[in-house]
Amino acid sequence: MRRGLLDIESLTRAEIDGILTRSKDFQPAPGQTFKRFETLRGRTVVNLFFESSTRTRTSFEIAAKRLGADVLAITAAGSSVSKGESLVDTLNTLGAMRPDAIVMRHAASGAPHFLSRYLPIPIVNAGDGTHEHPTQALLDARTILDRRGTLEGLRVAIIGDIAHSRVARSNIFLLSKFGVQVVLCGPASLLPREIGQIAPGVTLTTNMETAIRDVDVIMMLRVQLERQHEAAFPASEYFQFYGLRPEHVELAKPDVVVMHPGPINRGREISSEVADSQRSAILNQVENGIAVRMAVLEKVLAA
Ligand code: NCD
Repeated sequence: MRRGLLDIESLTRAEIDGILTRSKDFQPAPGQTFKRFETLRGRTVVNLFFESSTRTRTSFEIAAKRLGADVLAITAAGSSVSKGESLVDTLNTLGAMRPDAIVMRHAASGAPHFLSRYLPIPIVNAGDGTHEHPTQALLDARTILDRRGTLEGLRVAIIGDIAHSRVARSNIFLLSKFGVQVVLCGPASLLPREIGQIAPGVTLTTNMETAIRDVDVIMMLRVQLERQHEAAFPASEYFQFYGLRPEHVELAKPDVVVMHPGPINRGREISSEVADSQRSAILNQVENGIAVRMAVLEKVLAA
């Protein structure tokens, strides 16, 4: 992983397993806080976020600090990017400061891959356009494993704006490498047929009941209006057709795990009753984000 972590697609099952297993060591015991380590003492991690983020940015920052690294956060709004500096000039400037790794989120698919060809340091993709969000898929897998013990043979429904979701793509790649049956569901305008072909064992449906019946995990997605150039589905009807409500959850396995990468829009893609229910693992996902990102940073920075 000398080049960092750019996507899930190019990782082997063994590499993914290694990160998921190591992340268990970083999970705090119930009621405890995260332990501190000295592994990355003296190293500098730059968090370079060109798109807004709450969970991902802060958890990368906490993860790096828990490992003893120094962290520098740069957001587009507060940097020279807002003064018109090009990506290459921003990257050259950062490179001259010689950080040990860069964690990057960008609206353009492939931006971290470009950066990794440009700078001789590990780059960690924190979400690139509609392409991939590898650490999200890893933390989602950790969360499923915590509740189910295995991924093999599970049935997972991913529901919502599949077309614009890097979370969906990374999860499809990861889950299908582990023998999970993935069902993708959303309005036809947000469910491109090609996405079913990116991995084996993926099926598509526009019907939410069909998608949810007997599944082990329901992953809800936000409608990414910022990536849609025209309205793909009437906002007023979205919740009626694709909003997750208690009656849907009843169709799934009795111990179904309900997930959402956040930010959630209550009353749009998920009802409060479901989001706040026992079956919801949404806050476990957030917590696991730190442990998984510690495992990723340790791996990519291990000298
Ligand atoms: C996701 C993202 O940014 O891709 N959020 C996250 O990282 N937790 C999903 C989203 O924004 O809807």
